[in-house]
Amino acid sequence: MRIYQAETYQAMSRRAANIISAQVIYKPDCVLGLATGGTPVGTYQQLVEWFQKGDLSFAEVRSVNLDEYLGLSPHHEQSYRYFMQTNLFDHIDIKPENTHVLNGLAKDPAVECAAYNKLIRDLGGIDLQLLGMGRNGHIAFNEPGDDFGLETHLVSLTENTIEANARFFASRDEVPRHALSMGIKNIMNARRILIVVNGEEKAEAVYQAFCGPVTKQVPASVLQLHPNVTLVGDKAALHKLAEAGETVCG
Ligand code: F6R
Repeated sequence: MRIYQAETYQAMSRRAANIISAQVIYKPDCVLGLATGGTPVGTYQQLVEWFQKGDLSFAEVRSVNLDEYLGLSPHHEQSYRYFMQTNLFDHIDIKPENTHVLNGLAKDPAVECAAYNKLIRDLGGIDLQLLGMGRNGHIAFNEPGDDFGLETHLVSLTENTIEANARFFASRDEVPRHALSMGIKNIMNARRILIVVNGEEKAEAVYQAFCGPVTKQVPASVLQLHPNVTLVGDKAALHKLAEAGETVCG
């Protein structure tokens, strides 16, 4: 695993965007696995900037997103489809038909999840999967205790995650209680993983995930078993790793 520590959120975002951009330049028709949340906003802004300068094109890129709230339409401002449109897709040249986000209004979640697994396989698998990490160590909506063998599935969100995501909604009651999410198995099948973390509130989860044992109680700890993981973070999120003697590049 490579660990890059950046001084600021902006520098962290630039480093993460560099890695994604390198993937796109190396393989223009690559499959990018994408994430939502507060962490990757700066990364997407940097990619948009490079696209607008003419340094980068997404014309042949295909994308699959990690997850979506159940019950939210793609036009709902808190849906992950809406997030992706407004933070990235609307500002770059990716073809709309090449962007894939789970359908939060799917009548039958099991059918939607099975179709998504097939879609990922039909695309040839994910070349680079971008991840954030929850304060409880979750990745996508794979919560502590969830089985590592799961593919895309219906999830009941934990109180911890509902609490953390309430900041994006008018009130805590409006946060959906269920979501559709890629499983750990989909994520571990990606050829390369880029996980981005910032802020002191993530420091303990980062330490547990990468210095503790691999355990279902800390879903991100499974990444220790993946052969190609890059962790990019700011000082606040990475300081416990550095104090534990992990080799951190600047
Ligand atoms: C988002 C996702 C989540 C977030 C995680 C961190 O698609 O799958 O696992 O990456 O909750 O969220 P932020 O970045 O808001 O701290």
